[in-house]
Amino acid sequence: MLKNKVFDYSAQIGVIGLGYVGLPLAHACVKSGYSVMGIDTDLQKVAKLNKGQSYIADLCDADVASLFGGGKFSVSSHYGTLKSCDIIFICVPTPLNKEGQPDYNLLFKAVESTAEILSPSQLIVVESTVAPQTTEKNILPRLSKKGLLVGEDFFLAYSPERIDPGNSAYNLANTPKLVAGVTENCTKLTQNIYEQLGMFVVTVSSPAVAEMAKILENTYRDVNIALVNEMAQICSENGIDIWEVVSAAATKPYGYQAFYPGPGVGGHCIPVDSVYYTDWAQNGKIGASLVRHARDINAAMSKYVVDSLSTVLLNNGRQLSGSKVLVLGVTYKRDINDQRESPAVKLIELLSRRGALVSYHDPYVEEIKVNGRALHCSRFDKRLLNEQDCVVMAVAHKWYDLRNLSSSCALIFDLTNVTVGLGYRKNIVSLFKHNCK
Ligand SMILES: NC(=O)c1ccc[n+]([C@@H]2O[C@H](COP(=O)([O-])OP(=O)(O)OC[C@H]3O[C@@H](n4cnc5c(N)ncnc54)[C@H](O)[C@@H]3O)[C@@H](O)[C@H]2O)c1
Repeated sequence: MLKNKVFDYSAQIGVIGLGYVGLPLAHACVKSGYSVMGIDTDLQKVAKLNKGQSYIADLCDADVASLFGGGKFSVSSHYGTLKSCDIIFICVPTPLNKEGQPDYNLLFKAVESTAEILSPSQLIVVESTVAPQTTEKNILPRLSKKGLLVGEDFFLAYSPERIDPGNSAYNLANTPKLVAGVTENCTKLTQNIYEQLGMFVVTVSSPAVAEMAKILENTYRDVNIALVNEMAQICSENGIDIWEVVSAAATKPYGYQAFYPGPGVGGHCIPVDSVYYTDWAQNGKIGASLVRHARDINAAMSKYVVDSLSTVLLNNGRQLSGSKVLVLGVTYKRDINDQRESPAVKLIELLSRRGALVSYHDPYVEEIKVNGRALHCSRFDKRLLNEQDCVVMAVAHKWYDLRNLSSSCALIFDLTNVTVGLGYRKNIVSLFKHNCK
């Protein structure tokens, strides 16, 4: 029985998609004593793992090496190897396509490949973020194609991942895990396995509730960031310092959570999940105009930053076109190597379209694509800083020494007010503050 195998650690586990979500999950399973088969269609990742190399910030090479150490982990790009697994977690990407719309192709492909090898009594758990009702309306029918009955012949559950890469305070072990099976026994089995991994499980009544909860968590952030981004622009127009406003509001001990303005929202989750939601909701009577509008505000921030930089340069006697601009940090947030949907990359694209001579540096990113072309990370040295008309502090990785920067640059445009601790410096201007006295 699967339940017994879960409790005595003899259950074989498969993890499909060994990225930011799947690899730490595989690591947690091996650490708990299970044997894990990892599947990824990216052959480079498979090769790296086989060499004991990590490609995500939350696991180091030693962690990857330890995965293989006890002979309990193997990786492959062939689904056939999953046939013998008792539990299969699906952790593949659910991105946006070129038109900015939800792209379920990778997920449905992974589900269809799983359906090919689906055997009686297997438990399939989907962790990828999806629009509400996807598990029951789109995943279940694909898995049931061969006639196996859910809740009897096989088990299916949805459990959204809430991982926050680079967050040292919250990880898989101390972030409650939402779980909902298609049937009650699907829920129970899924709860059992996550609890064996040391997680605190919260069960909900249906996959749709768990799917919607994940969407709520992330659209909540998108909407609140949009609120403060819009307010920041209005404050700037009126000479009010939004950073001081947010700090002042944050002194209220209840009923308020601080969100900070900036150059936009990036990453694989927040800007993407909002679109999965609005796309899904548009078929109903209500729509989701609030979230749609919030998304538009956040997406337009890169343009606002470029216009503001143009003003700042003009105030310093320079035109944006022809100015040398170095962007520091291109990931979607500080101290990680993930540049998906990064506002800084969008900013570089807009700057180069407006004629700026733009380069970038990021200690974690060797190359980015700018308007379809490769741009390499510049060598970070005094000469590079000295020759810039403006250095844009886009992502304040701890790697950067702000004090040294400020003494080596003619002009710094700080997008996240990270230089506030340095006190007033003539050569530093913060976004939204350039109109303030
Ligand atoms: N990154 C996060 O912080 C985060 C947090 C919560 C939820 N999520 C969600 O989790 C899911 C996975 O995100 P991620 O950040 O781990 O993505 P990722 O791109 O880092 O990793 C996904 C992996 O899946 C592989 N893959 C793609 N198609 C495949 C297929 N058909 N079969 C096997 N492997 C395949 C890719 O090569 C990649 O290595 C997404 O739905 C995402 O929205 C991500």
